[in-house]
Amino acid sequence: MTVELRTVEAAEVGGRRVLVRDDFNVPLDDHGRVTDDLRVRAALPTLRHLVERDAKVICCSHLGRPKGRRVDKYSLAPVAGVLGERLGREVAFVDDVVGEAAKRAASGLTPGQVLLLQNLRFEPGEEANDPGFAERLAGLAELYVDDAFGAAHRAHASVVGVAERLPAYAGFLLASEVKELSRLLESPVSPFVAVLGGSKVSDKLAVLSSLLGRVDTLVVGGGMCFTFLAATGYGVGDSLFEQDQVDAVRDLLARAEREGKRIMLPTDLVVADAFAEDASRRTVPASAIEPGWRGLDIGPQTAAAFATAVNQAKTVFWNGPMGVFEWAPFAAGTRTVAEAVATTGAYTVVGGGDSAAALAQFGLADKVDHLSTGGGASLELLEGRTLPGVSVLQRPTR
Ligand code: 3PG
Ligand code: MG
Repeated sequence: MTVELRTVEAAEVGGRRVLVRDDFNVPLDDHGRVTDDLRVRAALPTLRHLVERDAKVICCSHLGRPKGRRVDKYSLAPVAGVLGERLGREVAFVDDVVGEAAKRAASGLTPGQVLLLQNLRFEPGEEANDPGFAERLAGLAELYVDDAFGAAHRAHASVVGVAERLPAYAGFLLASEVKELSRLLESPVSPFVAVLGGSKVSDKLAVLSSLLGRVDTLVVGGGMCFTFLAATGYGVGDSLFEQDQVDAVRDLLARAEREGKRIMLPTDLVVADAFAEDASRRTVPASAIEPGWRGLDIGPQTAAAFATAVNQAKTVFWNGPMGVFEWAPFAAGTRTVAEAVATTGAYTVVGGGDSAAALAQFGLADKVDHLSTGGGASLELLEGRTLPGVSVLQRPTR
C-alpha cells in the first residue's frame, strides 16, 4: 500500500514556530568534529523551505545513546556549527531541551531564524515517550515537522508524542525516504538483487527473510556470512559466528531452495591471524578457514561474483559492508561491491550507516539512486513493518 504523507508544503509556516525533528545522529571524532555530514545535508531542503517562508525554526535531534542523562561527548553543539555552514545562515544553539532556557530561546526567535536544541536523549522522557516531556517539547512550537527518517522506527516522544500534540507534517527527507524504499517493497523491477553485509545475522534475519520473498538473488557477505557458511557445514575458525542463529539460517537456506531463490555466499575470503589492521593475512577458499584465523573480508573471486550479480540486476538494495573496510588491507571486497552498485544501470538503493560511510570513503556517495539516511529504519521499512514515525503522520491533522 502506497503511503501518502502530508508534507511540509501543505503547512502555513510563515511567522510560526515550527519544531523540526531531524536525525543529526552523526559520527564525531575524538575532538568532537563531525566526520560525515550526510545527515546534515539531507536535512537542508526542509530547513531551507521553512526559513525561506519565514518560519521560526526549532530543530531537535538525538545523538548517540546517552540513556536519559547528560553525557558531554554527545552534545549537539558541534552540529549547530556544521548546520549553520551548510545552511548559509546562523544556527543558534541552546544547551537545554525543554527547560526555561529552551523556552526563552524558542519564544525569542524571529521569522527565518533557526535554533537547535540540546540532545533530546539527555532527557529520560524522550525514549520513554513520557507524556509530560512530549507536552513540554510540543509546547515550544505551533507546528511539527518530522524529517528524522533514521529515527522513524523509534516510538519516542520527539517522533510520536509530539506528532500527536501538534499539527504534524512530513519533511521532504522523510517523505522521499519512504517513497524510494517503498518502491523496493511494492514494485521492484526484476531481477532484484539484495546485497547484505555487516556483522550480525541476528540484526538482519528479519529483513533477510522478508527480502527473500521479493528478491531473485540474496547476496551475503560481511561478518554475518560466517554463520551462513557454518550452517552449510564449513569450519569458520575464529571468525564472527552466531551459534544461536544457525538453525534459523538453515531454515532460510532451505526456504530459498524450495522457492528457487539464489543465495550467494563467499567462495573465498581474506583471513587474518588477529583482529588488527596489520595482522598477517591470506586469501583462502571459504571451505578452508583454519582455527586461529578469522575472515575480515570477502576474497577477490567472491567480490567479482557479487559484482556480476549486481551488474545483471535491474533493482539493487545494498546494506552492510563486506568486510572491515575501515582498514585498507580488508577494504577491497566492500570497494568492489560499492563500485558495482555505483556503476550498474540498475535502480540502486543503499541503506544503513556503514554502507553510506563506505560509499563516502570511496567517493561514490552521489553515484547511487537513493542513499538512505536510515539504518535500522530502512531495514524495518523493508521488512514491511509500519514505522511509528510514519504512521503517526498519517493521522488527520488537527
Ligand atoms: C541511527 O543512527 O540508526 C539512528 O539515528 C537511530 O539511532 P538509534 O539506533 O540509537 O535509535
Ligand atoms: Mg541504529
